Amino acid sequence: MPVTIKSEREINLMREAGKILAKVHEELAEAVEAGMSSYEIDKMCEKIIRGYDCIPSFLGYDGYPGSVCISINDEVVHGLPSKDKIIQDGDIVSLDIGVIWKGYQSDAARTIAIGEISKEAQQLIDVTKQSFFEGIKFAKEGNHLYDISAAIGDYAEKFGYGVVRELVGHGIGTEMHEDPQIPNFRQKRRGMRLQAGMTLAIEPMINMGRPDVAWTDDNWTVVTDDGSLSAHYENTILITKGEPEILSL
Ligand code: MF3
Ligand code: CO
Repeated sequence: MPVTIKSEREINLMREAGKILAKVHEELAEAVEAGMSSYEIDKMCEKIIRGYDCIPSFLGYDGYPGSVCISINDEVVHGLPSKDKIIQDGDIVSLDIGVIWKGYQSDAARTIAIGEISKEAQQLIDVTKQSFFEGIKFAKEGNHLYDISAAIGDYAEKFGYGVVRELVGHGIGTEMHEDPQIPNFRQKRRGMRLQAGMTLAIEPMINMGRPDVAWTDDNWTVVTDDGSLSAHYENTILITKGEPEILSL
């Protein structure tokens, strides 16, 4: 699928979708607490999304049964909601949510702390989030796609962290996953030129230990190979001639 350049009408719908998704994230993060199962969190998330007259984009995507991916501690992404996964004090929990509003998609992820977490875990969360902001300093018309990738990866690696290589960010619009794919680490080329009107989901996934990941038997949940903690931070952004617009904040 080619990279799409959105019209002003489409951009406005993506702005609306992003604003709603930002609110869904705030409400869900507020509600999540120790003792809840990730199944309960998923049900709550679906209710919040539908309360905004949106469709949960993950539900049914490739057969995914939930509305949110809930990835706990060493789970990297695509954590499958389960009645058996109970959130505990001291956990770090990544919540990745997608909504569809009038045919347009927004995709965003946050990693939150449950109660008191270690200093090391907090640093991982903070660096993962900051790596996104380091990356989008290069997200502007005329720059190249992999300038973003390099800035994200170089920043996270300075802390000794492992940048996940097997999963990437993506273009987004009427489809959740459009071209281009957006790696979170330095490439040998600078990649395609960025143009105003591109909408991209930039999503660093950063491990405290090695970059390697594995897939669990549920066929969805991705975990770190070495069992180390992992954090995820994602927003849907709009490329312009100047500063990027962060649509899902
Ligand atoms: N947010 C994820 C991504 O950026 C998608 C979740 S996979 C799904 O690729 F199956 F749950 F939808
Ligand atoms: Co995404």
